[in-house]
Amino acid sequence: MKSFVFLNRKGGTGKTSISVTCAIELARRGFKTVLVDCDPQGNSSSWLSKNFQYELSDVLNGKIKVGECLVQTHFENLFLLPTFAINGGLQSFASSTRNYYVFEDAVFPSLKDFDYLIFDTSPAFGDFEKGIANCADVIVPVLKLDQFSADGFQTLIENLITTTKEIRCKDLLEKISFVILNQQDKRMKFQSLFAENFMKNFDDTQFLTIPTDTSFVKAQILKNSIQDKSITARKETTDAIDSIIREMTK
Ligand SMILES: Nc1ncnc2c1ncn2[C@@H]1O[C@H](COP(=O)(O)OP(=O)(O)OP(=O)(O)O)[C@@H](O)[C@H]1O
Ligand SMILES: [Mg+2]
Repeated sequence: MKSFVFLNRKGGTGKTSISVTCAIELARRGFKTVLVDCDPQGNSSSWLSKNFQYELSDVLNGKIKVGECLVQTHFENLFLLPTFAINGGLQSFASSTRNYYVFEDAVFPSLKDFDYLIFDTSPAFGDFEKGIANCADVIVPVLKLDQFSADGFQTLIENLITTTKEIRCKDLLEKISFVILNQQDKRMKFQSLFAENFMKNFDDTQFLTIPTDTSFVKAQILKNSIQDKSITARKETTDAIDSIIREMTK
């Protein structure tokens, strides 16, 4: 099993859109995949499933087993450990846990048969998120091409450096194998200039770009994949997702 976490300290950069899209795409290619909704907003859960009885925090609190919580989505091979957006328990769990190893202890042993595990997270970075960064194999920062999300990325980098020292884990920066630049609009010259200057600061980093495409909004409303014929995503967008999947399946 290989696990990925999509992170940024700035909200609204596309973590959910990209983690769900990649999870669906991995599943479509025949990989047994589970999306773990680690955001109390429960956005990926509402995208992928209509009903569920239990949520991730019930597992993390030791109330139920992983198998009782795991939901088969309407996509073959794609499963979900959901979070309730309303009256859920994840916010309270995340703000009180001090256990950096809760996923290794309570979740991973039951998911050995899965090929891929995708964590969708909130912009927070407390002990809960430190534990996720520590247990995931790959950290994928997701930025929008604007100053505020670049600031959020910088904060994330600082947080990863501090956390590596604090919990004496494997170098968390080394878990970044590529960075996603989301919502690129080629018509905006200023944005291209911003991206160019931004990338110059990170010589050794591979950047993968996703264009602005309303098919993400459509897919969330229709609870579908951007790859579905009814969504009519732009070719540049599906090509961009293909490139990300190529990196993820290397
Ligand atoms: N490439 C894109 N093109 C157009 N719209 C996009 C794109 N990516 C994301 N969006 C839209 O931007 C909004 C924010 O995206 P999303 O919810 O995925 O961000 P997030 O990082 O998960 O946010 P949060 O920090 O609140 O969890 C959504 O309305 C989504 O549909
Ligand atoms: Mg989100």
